[in-house]
Amino acid sequence: MNKQINAYINTILPELISLRREIHRNPELSNKEIQTSKLIQQKLIENGINATTIKSNTGVTAFIQGGQEGDTIAYRADLDALPMEEKTGLTFSSQNESVMHACGHDIHTTVLYGTALVINKFKDYLKGNLRIIFQSGEENFTGAKEAIESGIFENPQVKSILALHSWPDLPAGTIGLKKGPMMASSSNLSFKITGKGGHAAHPHRGIDPIVVSSYIITAIQSIISRNIAPIDSAVISFGKLTAGNTSNIIPDHAIGEGTVRTLSPSINRKIEEKIKSLIEYQAESFGATAEVKYENISPPVINDSNIIDVLEESSYNSIGYKNIRWLNSPSMGSEDFAFYLEKIPGALIRLGTHNDTEESKLPLHNSKIIFDERSIETGVKFMSNAIFSLLNNSKI
Ligand code: NI
Repeated sequence: MNKQINAYINTILPELISLRREIHRNPELSNKEIQTSKLIQQKLIENGINATTIKSNTGVTAFIQGGQEGDTIAYRADLDALPMEEKTGLTFSSQNESVMHACGHDIHTTVLYGTALVINKFKDYLKGNLRIIFQSGEENFTGAKEAIESGIFENPQVKSILALHSWPDLPAGTIGLKKGPMMASSSNLSFKITGKGGHAAHPHRGIDPIVVSSYIITAIQSIISRNIAPIDSAVISFGKLTAGNTSNIIPDHAIGEGTVRTLSPSINRKIEEKIKSLIEYQAESFGATAEVKYENISPPVINDSNIIDVLEESSYNSIGYKNIRWLNSPSMGSEDFAFYLEKIPGALIRLGTHNDTEESKLPLHNSKIIFDERSIETGVKFMSNAIFSLLNNSKI
């Protein structure tokens, strides 16, 4: 049946390319994906797929019931674009000022739409069901949580979930797989040191919060080198440090803001504890006081190894083993797909999008990046066959 699936995909490719260009031309920011959602919902309904909006947000969901009883798996794509000016020069460049699909979510949306058409067409042969999730607000980490709260994993219960993300490091035509840690957790960190301001010529009469902050920032880097095992990964970076107004006055306060990335929830918890106590004790040792905030934005993305095995095997029927690339290391970037994986097992895979041009090899979120559209065919073939394999053949 994989031959029939692949042949059908070839017939819908022109429609998919034109849909992708339409979405690319009309990008919308996080939680404002109103036209994109409407377009997707309308097209699904036209194709006989009963699509509804996701309660409380601008996402769309649909359920395709297979011809035979079985498990339900979910496949999620993200709809939102980024607040930046497009500089690709493409004929279908963004028409919305300072909004651009620079993270390839237009490709992800199109691949999920194409996969939905395929699964719907061949649903009589499907042993189980597919829950489709077109999710809003990925870039600001709100959409996945809202989708879960709306009950997307219930009635019937969803057993596992898949997603793909464009990847300019890999060539179009390939899929990147990795077991275990795939993307990092993300936490925001901030501190406010309160000292005692005064004349810069008489520092002994005050408590200098700038000196205290400098010690704190230097000491925090020792958490990575002295508290985290050498084979584990973590990043602590400060992106903002503010204090004072002029050269000869010691200010009362200093404020630092940073980000922490890890590949495991336990390492993140350990860093949070260490950071809090280190800042508080360092400040105290100088006679200053500290307020510390540590906000967990997103957990890490950890891929289920058994699912990745089934996905690899399924590629024999879609893009061929030779087009699978095994990724050596995780990305220290973050993804709100991680929230789904806190609830059920799943996998995030990479969709190769580069070709011979320099523009296609630029990093994600670059205003000149051009994604190779041939990746759409690869994505739909791979995901359609993967869903059939997971539901019909797998013992997961
Ligand atoms: Ni993205």
